Amino acid sequence: MTVEIEKVLRSHSERFGAEGRIFSAPARVNLIGEHTDYTGGLVMPMAIGFRTVAVISPRQDGRAVFFSANYGEEVSFETTTLDRSPRGHWSDYPAGVLWSLRQEGIEVSGFSMTLAGDVPLGAGLSSSASVEVAAAMAILAEAKVLLPLKTVATLCRRAENEYVGAKSGIMDQFVVAGAVEHRAMLLDTRSLEFDLLPLPEEIRVVIANSMVKHAVATGEYGDRRDEVEAGQAVLRRELGRELLRDATVADLDACRDKMSEASYLRCRHIITENLRVVEARSALLAGDMKRFGELMIAAHTSMRDDFAASAPEVDALVEIALRQPGCFGARITGGGFGGCTVNVVSADQAEKFVGAVRREYAQAMKIDADCFICAPSDGALALAAKGGAA
Ligand code: GLA
Repeated sequence: MTVEIEKVLRSHSERFGAEGRIFSAPARVNLIGEHTDYTGGLVMPMAIGFRTVAVISPRQDGRAVFFSANYGEEVSFETTTLDRSPRGHWSDYPAGVLWSLRQEGIEVSGFSMTLAGDVPLGAGLSSSASVEVAAAMAILAEAKVLLPLKTVATLCRRAENEYVGAKSGIMDQFVVAGAVEHRAMLLDTRSLEFDLLPLPEEIRVVIANSMVKHAVATGEYGDRRDEVEAGQAVLRRELGRELLRDATVADLDACRDKMSEASYLRCRHIITENLRVVEARSALLAGDMKRFGELMIAAHTSMRDDFAASAPEVDALVEIALRQPGCFGARITGGGFGGCTVNVVSADQAEKFVGAVRREYAQAMKIDADCFICAPSDGALALAAKGGAA
């Protein structure tokens, strides 16, 4: 599915009786650096061609009215009294952004917003950050406020953490807002400094969806975070390592008997993953895709065995991918427990790769996997700067 911009604009003006302005935010895939972004670690995501669009127009009654074209549903809030009351509903994301901006002193009087998107849900491609950032761009424009990337990302993350109630890190909101076409982003989630890294022309990034749904807002993501925080607290107390980012495997080993085995393994994944991201950056810059792929494979093993965040279907998808000619590396991507794999494949083999993976996965698991060959896309700020959402 693609978002039909003209249709969304037309449906907005028919529903709300006013022409709207349009903003757009992409989805993302993470190449490497998983579950490192809430302990000050390193990540290497890129934005991809799926998107959420937000069309906005002012209204006079002081209300914020959100219409989701995907759900065919309208929800309305009083902008001045909006408090923190998530309902476990799609509208928590845009309402949470409005709440977060108000916390920051950004006031906006009433508006109507239409949201429409083609980001697969529950696939680990950051549909939530895509909605948050698109909504934030639209509300900020309506409020006539210009904010830098770091602030947009931080405010959207706060919406997700404190309003929606998902304890995610900053990676998704940051890359969805700040990505640049043709580049992956190496983000230091502690300093929020980043590098934009070109991908070699001879490779393609292929996303394969296991079709097993995951949700960050519930369950296992939160459990893993708790296990990680418990381990991090021990390292802080015993060795003064403020964040896992500052710790080595030797530090962790020295504290092993002071934490649960689960915390030890989760922290080991994160510490080794940060090292893999650093090496992956060098491999990418050197054009050494063989090494880059090996690091992806090691990252998958670590995510599966130490972080215990894979799923049998996803492991099967990775194994199938690695058997294909031209595949440098494959791993689970995103929060985990289902969702997608990310694969780095020789450009000239990418089409064949998709066919073979779909066929073999259907044989093995009786599931039809959606596969996408992706190019690194612009984030929401670059899209807005280029004068449009399309
Ligand atoms: C989800 C979260 C991110 C990050 C990833 C795992 O996508 O939203 O902040 O923690 O999981 O790397």
